[in-house]
Parts: sequence; structure tokens; C-alpha cells
Amino acid sequence: MLLLTEYRNHLIDLPNRIVMSPMTRLRSLPDGSPTSDVADYYAQRATAGLIVSEGIWPHSTGQSEAWVPGLQTPAHVEAWRRVTEAVHDRGGRIFAQLMHGGRKGHPLARIDGSWPAGPSAVLDDDRVHLIDGGKGDPITPAALDHAGIAAVVRQHAVAARNAMDAGFDGVEIHGANSYLAHQFLADNTNLRDDEYGGSIDNRMRLPLAVVDAVAEAIGSRRTAIRLSPGNPQFGMVEANPAPLYRALVAELDQRDLVYLHLTDNDRYPALRDLRPRWHGTLIANIGENGEPTTAAGAEQVLQSGLADLVSFGRSFIANPDLVHRIRYDVPLAPIREESLYGRTAEGYSDYPAWTAAAISG
Ligand SMILES: Cc1cc2nc3c(=O)[nH]c(=O)nc-3n(C[C@H](O)[C@H](O)[C@H](O)COP(=O)(O)O)c2cc1C
Repeated sequence: MLLLTEYRNHLIDLPNRIVMSPMTRLRSLPDGSPTSDVADYYAQRATAGLIVSEGIWPHSTGQSEAWVPGLQTPAHVEAWRRVTEAVHDRGGRIFAQLMHGGRKGHPLARIDGSWPAGPSAVLDDDRVHLIDGGKGDPITPAALDHAGIAAVVRQHAVAARNAMDAGFDGVEIHGANSYLAHQFLADNTNLRDDEYGGSIDNRMRLPLAVVDAVAEAIGSRRTAIRLSPGNPQFGMVEANPAPLYRALVAELDQRDLVYLHLTDNDRYPALRDLRPRWHGTLIANIGENGEPTTAAGAEQVLQSGLADLVSFGRSFIANPDLVHRIRYDVPLAPIREESLYGRTAEGYSDYPAWTAAAISG
């Protein structure tokens, strides 16, 4: 199986082509520090070729939900260092996903109580997890002014440096699934008439500014980005993704980034359209809006040359030893949906590896 073979180029060297996809699990402390359960959880999954962490806010004004971790303070760096060391001790590699919520968030979900701000003041009807355990009402964010945009860009650079201090192997900028950079790219969330809205060049300006700031802070070769062209999740509208994403990928292709992480969906064949325009390492995610990614589906993507690596999300939740299970064709354990999000080790770091499960009956 190609999936189980080593992947190596001048920027990255992985023992297999199975990537753990970023997944928010809401297990951090109220201040945004990951707990020892988080270290256990990722260490248990260290046989992945690469782990991409759950989304992490670069700054508290980008916190999308309560219990999402941060990379802003010395306490965060210290706590993440314990996570990266646990993964490295088990022979793994881990990137930090920087996830700025933009318009997504709620004052009662945030440690600093701030009001969310995105490209434009457009109602977000997603209901996020609040600190008190409830869900917030939909709210209308503020529109970022120029000083706000400059601050957001700077905050990504600082958080990327923090990620390096914490021992991460690199940084993936979350440009997908309705978060800040995606909000600048999409039709319905960016109604700006300044140099950050309107034309394709203008819509790409903030995402590229973030990429450049992070690359300047930690080196382009440790900088990656995730994109989800045409993904309608969380109310995003992109009527004609092809021209914009072709232009964006052409720009990114000149920047010597470590990888591009691309999600495919039924509406726009992102992998087929964009693969020829990207000459670096490509991670595909094929599970968005559908069934969890399977080994057979992933192998097909690799065999067809549409990607170099494939990320698996949900299958990693209940199967810490997913790589082993794929290698030996062991059936996958089901997810306990009720503990997908929660604040305890239950349904998180307590899923056994196959051998342990088999022995205990
Ligand atoms: C519980 C959960 C949390 C997720 N959180 C994130 C996230 O923080 N960042 C991100 O880019 N994608 C996130 N995703 C999307 C996954 O990375 C992945 O793209 C999706 O689950 C589809 O892949 P799969 O079919 O292998 O699960 C999340 C998905 C799930 C199920």
C-alpha cells in the first residue's frame, strides 16, 4: 500500500503517508492551556506520519469557542511543550494548526470576553460552545478595520514563534472550513469595498499576508496552509471557487511552503483542479461533508497521483493506532459521539489500541 510507504522530499521526511487531520476536541483548561490528557491523546497517535493539532487560537480575540487551546501566553507555550515532547518521545511529528475564528466566536466563550470581528459585519448563525457549558446565540461580528487586520497578521507571527518555542515541527495556517482566512476568501462573509474585498487579488490579501508573516517569523519551510475551496460548512458561500483558488494556489506555489492541505468536496473538484498548480507536498482530505475517510479511498487518491499524503480525521478519534489497523486490516472501532466534545479523558484519551482491546476482550 502506498499509504504505508515513507514520504520524503527536501522539506519533510515521514515514515508513512497517513496524516492525522486537525480536530477540535475542547479539552483545554479555561485559560487555553492543553492538559496532560491532551499530551496523552496525541502521544497515543504518534505513529501517524504527521499529526496536525486541533485548531489553536493565535490570540484570545480569535478564540472561536470555549475550551479551545491557545498559543499566546508563556503558560500556553509551557503546556504545549509537554504535548510536543510526548509526541516526539514516541517518535512522532506534530504541526500546530493556527485557527483564528474571525467572525466566529462569542464574548461568553472567550477568556477575554471580546466581541468577534471578521471581514464584514455579517450574522454568523453558528452556535458556539460557551464557558458555562451552553451554546451561544448567533451574533453579528464587528468588521475589522485596518489596524485590526494588521494586528491579526502580527498575532499569527507571534503565535508561530510560540509554536516553535513549544517544540512544534511546523505551523499549519487554518485557511479552511469557515475560519478567518476563509471568511476573507468567501463571497458571503467578505462584503468589503477596500483593498481586502471585491476582486480576487483583494480577497487573497489577508490570507497571503498571514502566510508571509508566519513564513518570515519561522521560515517558509516550516509554514503550511489548509484550504477548503467551495466548502459550504458553517454557512460559507463560494459560488465560483475555481478562479480564486487557482490564483491563490499560484501565489502560494511561489513561497516554498512545507505543504498545502486541501479538502475536496462534491461541488468543486479541488484536488483535480489544483494539484497541477501546486508543486510542493500536497495533503488531501477527502472526508469533508461525507463519511469518514477510509484506507481504500485514501489509497485511491495516492495511486491516482492527486496527493502525496492523505489526512484522516474521525477514524483517528476511536483508533489511536490507526496506522497499525490499516497495516493489518483490523476493523476500526466506532466513535462515541456523545464525547466528541467534552472536558474529560472519557471518549478522548481512553480509546485503547487494538492489541489492548483484543486482550481485554
Ligand atoms: C470533531 C471534529 C473537529 C474538527 N476540528 C477541526 C479543526 O480544528 N481544524 C480543521 O481544519 N478541521 C477540523 N475538522 C475537520 C477534520 O480535520 C476533517 O477535515 C474532517 O473530519 C473530514 O475528514 P474525515 O472524514 O477523515 O473525518 C474537525 C472535524 C471533526 C470531526
